[in-house]
Amino acid sequence: MTLKKSDFPADFAWGAATAAYQIEGAVGEDGRAPSIWDTFSHTPGKTLGGDTGDVACDHYHRWEHDLDLMQRLGLNAYRYSLAWPRIVPDGRGRINVKGLDFYERLTDGLLARGIDPYVTLYHWDLPQALQDAGGWVSRDTAHAFAEYAQVVAGRLGDRVKGWITHNEPWCAAFLGNLMGIHAPGLHDLETALKVSHHLLLSHGLATQAIRAGVPGARVGITLILGPQQPASERPEDLAAARRGDGFLNRWFLDPLYGRGYPQDMLELYRPHAPGFEATIRPGDLETIAAPTDFLGVNYYQRSVVADAPGEMGILGTRQVRQPGEYTAFDWEVYPDGLRQVLTRAHQDYAPPLIYVTENGAAYADTVSPDGSVHDEARRRYIEHHLIACREATLQGVPLGGYFAWSLLDNFEWGEGYDKRFGLVRVDYDTQRRTVKDSGAWYGRLSRGEG
Ligand code: IFM
Repeated sequence: MTLKKSDFPADFAWGAATAAYQIEGAVGEDGRAPSIWDTFSHTPGKTLGGDTGDVACDHYHRWEHDLDLMQRLGLNAYRYSLAWPRIVPDGRGRINVKGLDFYERLTDGLLARGIDPYVTLYHWDLPQALQDAGGWVSRDTAHAFAEYAQVVAGRLGDRVKGWITHNEPWCAAFLGNLMGIHAPGLHDLETALKVSHHLLLSHGLATQAIRAGVPGARVGITLILGPQQPASERPEDLAAARRGDGFLNRWFLDPLYGRGYPQDMLELYRPHAPGFEATIRPGDLETIAAPTDFLGVNYYQRSVVADAPGEMGILGTRQVRQPGEYTAFDWEVYPDGLRQVLTRAHQDYAPPLIYVTENGAAYADTVSPDGSVHDEARRRYIEHHLIACREATLQGVPLGGYFAWSLLDNFEWGEGYDKRFGLVRVDYDTQRRTVKDSGAWYGRLSRGEG
């Protein structure tokens, strides 16, 4: 099928997404303090090639140019994150006005170009000062987050179209504190579970703070979701897929939509994390389940799961590689998984609105002699995932928009600058931006010229 803009609702958000530490650079400028990602990326051996976000895409200085680019493409929405350590450098207390000024300029610059601002408050860059005081294991960090949300809402609240409290708390909790491959680089299940609870609690507290400061604010949270399909109909594999689903999806969806933590996962975790449940205080689950205006879904891949005692820690699961196409990240290209997670979220949890807040692919782009980037695989990837979105809308999913990951090639966390997801190529030596074929195609579609 050939996609058309008119296949989607008239008010559909045609966007792209980024995150502060991945693009801004300027880590020591205008009063910004270090975050856990500065510390982690500067620790030898933690990122590929020792790459850091010190300069990244230099977006802090080139933001006007980047906004012009988006306007030329024809996007009507942009999802970006605010760096907490630019705004509240110590995590709590003193406000750095220069940080707020930057995000105000950016937000106003978007509006002046006819682009709706969607703001993520936390895309993993916790102020290091808070980590030093215990990080997300400490309940105080959840309250510090709500204070930060209140400050930002007070300044930008009248202009932001959608507030996203957290990006992918699964990654922040488990990649950062169980698998140790993201900041702060820990390896402890109980810590990861406590972190997940305080992230969710902070979402609820921040939602209250934003609503108190900005009547009519639209607030949501972004989760990474993926179908967990059993490798066979064997009861063991069915159970393994259910554990995978509990680990990635239900652990966050269930409490956010008023069901508390899934019992099967609590039972699985309890012997290995005996202190976790005491972290949940009376009233927490109600705070977490406060109604939101939308759910953000980030989708990259599915898992086909087999029972494998002793693998993946206490999960006892193994991912079974499927034949087919893979991205440069070695993630399977499986567009129908996006339709599946959207319809599942709609049917099982019924958020009033859903946005695809991230979807995209890393490929090893090559630059032609004339400087162009013919990234047909990425273009096709986005097209097929948008077709999956369209199918989801036909099945009744209230889909409000799609944000391609990412506007720019950027700092891909532990993978450094090796993996490129951008609609726009960044030459890191010159900071020159080049719209790739995928970006030009996506722009035509969003302008209604597709
Ligand atoms: O780059 C990340 C982003 O920060 C969060 N979601 C997944 C992307 C690709 O790995």
